[in-house]
Amino acid sequence: MVVINSIKEMRQIAAAYKSTGGKIAVVPTMGFLHQGHLSLINKAKEEADFVITSLFVNPRQFAPNEDYDKYPRNMGSDSELAAAAGSDCLFNPNALEMYAIGNTTKVAVEGITAKFEGAKRPGHFDGVATVVAKLFNATLPDIAVFGQKDYQQILVVKRLIEDLNYDIELIVAPTLRQADGLAMSSRNKYLSDTDRQSSSLLFLALEDARKAIAAGMMQRKVINAVMHKRLRQAASIKIDYACAALANSLHEPDIFLPGDDIVLLIAAYLGKTRLIDNALTTIPKGKSPLAAL
Ligand code: PAJ
Repeated sequence: MVVINSIKEMRQIAAAYKSTGGKIAVVPTMGFLHQGHLSLINKAKEEADFVITSLFVNPRQFAPNEDYDKYPRNMGSDSELAAAAGSDCLFNPNALEMYAIGNTTKVAVEGITAKFEGAKRPGHFDGVATVVAKLFNATLPDIAVFGQKDYQQILVVKRLIEDLNYDIELIVAPTLRQADGLAMSSRNKYLSDTDRQSSSLLFLALEDARKAIAAGMMQRKVINAVMHKRLRQAASIKIDYACAALANSLHEPDIFLPGDDIVLLIAAYLGKTRLIDNALTTIPKGKSPLAAL
């Protein structure tokens, strides 16, 4: 696997590869790779001939009070893991290469970023959209693989691709979980043993809401309450939000309708560690919304 640090060189290699007719896939990451990231690389390898994994801890998507400096890094093992998973190229620019002195441009996706992660982490999605656009420009992909784990990020990348006319197919890969349901995340390593035990409640809360919806629950606040109830089983969990919303728009009507695609979104602190998770489901057809009243 070739390791590239310069944007110019990355673009030259990508352009040369493209001119042979080969298909390029990019898997953007911030490193400290785990099985979830590797499943994205595996998927990319199935779909394309040349897989570029990018590894860049993007300072622009961290607020000043967040964990940019503390974000876990392990370049040595990342490069071994990415190669073993099928990556042909590791694109690993440093912060000055990505954000040259004097740069003032940012990409801001509006609308979909106004709530949930966007509201709780002001500026976060501007940082994500800006770096993803720059990564696309450097790697010239036909395909980009992202994880459902960061659901709102998927909606942002979808808009970005459409609004800036990138000719890129977005593939969304499922969330990989530990045996007890905890979604794999680079931040899980911060969890104390007790918090690690409580952390499976996020998945259980999503499951409770999913089952309640399958059984006919359609009132948004009641669905949210089902998630809150489960999360409150651990006193150490501080809920940032636990909400059901329409999957495509993130709108929050009082009552969902049969056939609506729903996303269940949770963000919660366990100690100082902030975890997010989500699940998709559909309001069953054939039930009257009046029954929910
Ligand atoms: P990072 O958190 O490193 O995640 C990189 C990719 O891995 C994202 O698409 C994310 O959704 C996916 N991922 C994370 N955990 C996963 C899991 N348990 N199962 C499957 N996929 C998982 O997301 C980012 O980096 C950054 O915002 C980035 C897009 C790289 C821009 O800086």
